[in-house]
Amino acid sequence: MKKIRAAILISGRGSNMKALVEAARDPDYPIEIVLVVSNREDAAGLDHAKHRNIPTLAVENRRYCDRESHENAIHTALVARDVDLICLAGYMRILTPGFVDKWPGRILNIHPSLLPKYPGLNTHQRALDAGDKKHGCTVHIVTGDLDAGPAVLQKKVAVLDNDNAKSLAARVLEIEHRLYVRALAMVANDMVLQGDGRELRQ
Ligand code: GRF
Repeated sequence: MKKIRAAILISGRGSNMKALVEAARDPDYPIEIVLVVSNREDAAGLDHAKHRNIPTLAVENRRYCDRESHENAIHTALVARDVDLICLAGYMRILTPGFVDKWPGRILNIHPSLLPKYPGLNTHQRALDAGDKKHGCTVHIVTGDLDAGPAVLQKKVAVLDNDNAKSLAARVLEIEHRLYVRALAMVANDMVLQGDGRELRQ
């Protein structure tokens, strides 16, 4: 089976990355994770990827003089690995339009809200403050505008009367893992159908 080659970008804990890595161990999953990149070398998620023998790379932003040179270093590593698709999974840097334009329609992100509600940070507290009865998460295509690209899949959870930001975040995180695995498979299957992976185009 031809697989789409994906890289995952993280900054910390990496629980979504872990979910994708575990899903990709299934021979029938249409994705091969070929690289995990972190902008912090102490990101906990890197250890799990190493444990699964996935190549990892720390490209620490603090070692670069500007955003562009940091992104260029990441871009070079992705191209060297023949990456077809980039998955942001708790990657806490905003990508510049210059980087995004090099990967049109090929960057996915998971965001902990029902976009277009609550782009940016503190989504769970904002949902509680607004008195929302439903909250959730969205996998979307990354464009040059923050958390504003087209949604691939979205999943709701009920907000409970006794929820606080922590309990709500924990429930949303559980469904994030499943949603990202499904959304990535959908996008990858579509790319296979279109003959849109680098390997498939050769
Ligand atoms: C998740 O809530 C994700 O939606 C957001 O950042 C968090 C990352 O968590 N973009 P993890 O590193 O995947 O555990």
